Amino acid sequence: MRTKIKHILHAQQSSLLIGRQVTVSGWIRTVRDQKSFAFIELNDGSTLANLQIVVDGALPAYTETLSQLTTGASATITGTLVASPGKNQALELKADTVRILGTCSAEKYPLQKKRHSFEFLRTIAHLRPRTNTQGAVLRVRSALAHATHLFFQQRGFYYVQTPLITGSDCEGGGEMFRVTTLSDLKDPSKDFFGKPTYLTVSGQLEGEILALALSDVYTFGPTFRAENSNTSRHLAEFWMIEPEMAFADLKADMECAQSYLQFCVRYVLEHCREDLEFFDKFIENGLLQRLQHVADSPFAHLTYTQAVEILRKAPKQFEFPVEWGIDLQSEHERYLAEEHCKQPVILTDYPAEIKAFYMRANDDGKTVAAMDILVPKIGEIIGGSQREERIDRLEHKIAEHGLNRSDYWWYLELREYGSVPHAGFGLGFERLVLFTTGMENIRDVIPFPRYPGHADF
Ligand code: 4AD
Ligand code: MG
Repeated sequence: MRTKIKHILHAQQSSLLIGRQVTVSGWIRTVRDQKSFAFIELNDGSTLANLQIVVDGALPAYTETLSQLTTGASATITGTLVASPGKNQALELKADTVRILGTCSAEKYPLQKKRHSFEFLRTIAHLRPRTNTQGAVLRVRSALAHATHLFFQQRGFYYVQTPLITGSDCEGGGEMFRVTTLSDLKDPSKDFFGKPTYLTVSGQLEGEILALALSDVYTFGPTFRAENSNTSRHLAEFWMIEPEMAFADLKADMECAQSYLQFCVRYVLEHCREDLEFFDKFIENGLLQRLQHVADSPFAHLTYTQAVEILRKAPKQFEFPVEWGIDLQSEHERYLAEEHCKQPVILTDYPAEIKAFYMRANDDGKTVAAMDILVPKIGEIIGGSQREERIDRLEHKIAEHGLNRSDYWWYLELREYGSVPHAGFGLGFERLVLFTTGMENIRDVIPFPRYPGHADF
């Protein structure tokens, strides 16, 4: 039976494994030919580190085998675990048999060099998961997904699925991908669904339906936005987690969002230590310290109005000038989180004009019960709000935003039949991966990124 390398290198008491026969499988990272024997570094993706394997020159067909032991080749190796004389690992494997599964041309294999640029690696998305950085990103990503389910399930939230194909534009931005089987779009009534349909920009509106029956729910699914944003923070296809809570106001929403983010950070600090140490060393010096600080301290809190005052007084020239009523740009968000607060900050009570139609109007008549969480390096990671539960106000807002009442008939009926105060938020999963790994570009934290001009693989 095959043993995963993780279970050898991260054994509780590695000395107990000495003398044990094991079989490992993986891809060869490097080979060092020492004439009478060879060292192989084998990686199976189960953990960052490679298992060192010693192949003795006395093994049958040694020369032939050695010629096939090249970087990138796959192999199954059986042998005995021994204490390693090297200082980098406690154990190494002394091979008895080496079976090459798939050879790999030393001339052609693109991952020969130790370091490649992230831009180059995006062009070989079929091979980049075999690099140290991408492997670590994918393991942390998996842990964050697990942490997400753990957090919400522990709090009694139900995991719900909302549709990917939809007729409604939740965010009202009109940045939707059309879904159609027609080659001529003139008559949508002839289309598959008998009307124009799109890929969802958010599961929130359907999430509200479910929260108004189950109390606390969350979605975790793909989200699509056709905004032509060529930035390191935007994807055309990304994953979003959207909790929705009945009988909750903005304060409860903020509490849930902060606890969720801190839970995720603590979870990876505990469960992804080796990968995070790698990121701390090679991607962002000080990452572990930054994450520990996020885990330990309550977030800052400012209203939008306070934030605008801070930005106007800031000893800094912004590209986009600041005045009350503007939509904050990434440079403003980053200044607030990185330089002013030096930690995550929750911004609340934004001007109604710059936020979506569904957010609950505040009594001042100018602002809405919205909250965004801004974090250093990224800016907005979470966007949420208390929802407008008063039907007259909501009807008014729908008209004001130039939306069709008939498109939202069911959303309005939720306010007619047993309406309750409720609130929720959306977290961009890839931004969470950026935040916890220190990676710079969102295209490098999802295995197959979609952005303008790029839908390869
Ligand atoms: O702020 P947004 O647009 O909020 C909503 O969609 C609400 N319906 C959420 C809710 O209240 N249920 O998006 C939420 C988050 C953002 O804060 C950001 O982290 C992420 O989704 N996001 C993106 N991530 C990657 N690429 C994009 N193009 C993104 N657009 C938003
Ligand atoms: Mg937002």
